[in-house]
Amino acid sequence: GFTRDDHCGLPEAFRQADLPALAAREGTPLYVYAAPAIRQRVRALREALSGLDAGIRYAVKANGNGAVLRLLAEEGAGADIVSGGELERALRAGIAAADIVFSGVGKSDAEIALALDVGIGRFNIESRAELDAIQRIAAARGVTAVASVRINPDVDAMTHAKISTGKAENKFGVSIAEARAWFDAKAQWPDVRLDGLHMHIGSQLLSLDPVREALARMAAFWKELAAAGHAIASIDVGGGLGVRYREGEQAPDAREYADAIRQALAGFGGRILVEPGRWLVAEAGIVLTRVLLEKHGQARRFLVLDAAMNDLLRPSLYDAWHDIVPLGAAAARESATYDVVGPVCETGDTFATARELPRCEAGDLVAILGAGAYGASMGSTYNSRPLPAEVLVDGDRYAVVRRRQSLDEMLSGEQPASDWRRT
Ligand code: LLP
Repeated sequence: GFTRDDHCGLPEAFRQADLPALAAREGTPLYVYAAPAIRQRVRALREALSGLDAGIRYAVKANGNGAVLRLLAEEGAGADIVSGGELERALRAGIAAADIVFSGVGKSDAEIALALDVGIGRFNIESRAELDAIQRIAAARGVTAVASVRINPDVDAMTHAKISTGKAENKFGVSIAEARAWFDAKAQWPDVRLDGLHMHIGSQLLSLDPVREALARMAAFWKELAAAGHAIASIDVGGGLGVRYREGEQAPDAREYADAIRQALAGFGGRILVEPGRWLVAEAGIVLTRVLLEKHGQARRFLVLDAAMNDLLRPSLYDAWHDIVPLGAAAARESATYDVVGPVCETGDTFATARELPRCEAGDLVAILGAGAYGASMGSTYNSRPLPAEVLVDGDRYAVVRRRQSLDEMLSGEQPASDWRRT
């Protein structure tokens, strides 16, 4: 069992779960998602958007676990997908094809065909070449593809460069001038119903100013198109709403975000779509990991965990901050300054540098917070480390929603070079 102090820093939704027992039973590293936290977020967003004809299209890339998708689907969310794999996940979770939008700068012919065959709701088109491909594939199948143009509004989202997507130099979307030319030449693509606008300027947005700026540009364009006689049935404002990973960080709340949308799109008679990923799931997930050892290096003191960059890549890739909370006895000890690292053979395999934590010992259990989004979904088996298990907790119950990968599963598909064939 637990005393209350053992939980300090852990989000409310995890406090009913006996995390040490869970770690003992299911092993570590272990992803733990809290169902109530996900439900609470999706409901709060729906509530904030109330009064608008708005639909949530959850960005599956943030966390594509089937149980998480099912939870969101039960709350009425559709999906934003970027690959045939994500389409399969969304459909298997019971999300209706009509409630799925297909984004992404490089859709293959096979993916476009699959999406058309299942009756996907809408494509978010990012290039002239993609528009031509969708026309060709839809015509061959005798169906009409419904599509929006992804606008690149050329605003600085003021987030990490690697997750900023709405500047002219980014690969995403097209300029308003190019989009205008597409609408004017619509008849060239008779099997594409081009009747929507889309944008997504970046992720982990902590200020709404760039969102307002981009929305204003998109709204002005919608009005111009409408005046020119182009019916606009859908405006998709993308995702990007940031969360608070670190004390002192200020994240916008859902109501402010919804108000920005409400204001910019006042008078719009069509459907509004939002594509949040992170905001719905980031804080609903943690990584439970055990301290392998404490190491006094020549210059620094290291805490080596059994989780590594292959399990949670964000600190390595974006220098992202994740709170690290020792559980159990460690929580009560005096503090020390650690570089918190994993066992992978790269210096970049670092979760935190010079982090002040309670003294830890081998075997202590540690929680890495804010791991529900872009955690497991960005995992790999680098260093031949099998993918970790994932569990969903709901009150004091839990269910394994992805079993730990076995070595056989990790190695399946590989074979010796014995079956040689002519190229
Ligand atoms: N819609 C589109 C078209 C997107 O590309 C994305 C995310 C989203 C929606 C959802 O964005 P969100 O609401 O989650 O910010 N791996 C990075 C984040 C990459 C985001 C990519 N696109 C990270 O761990 O910070």
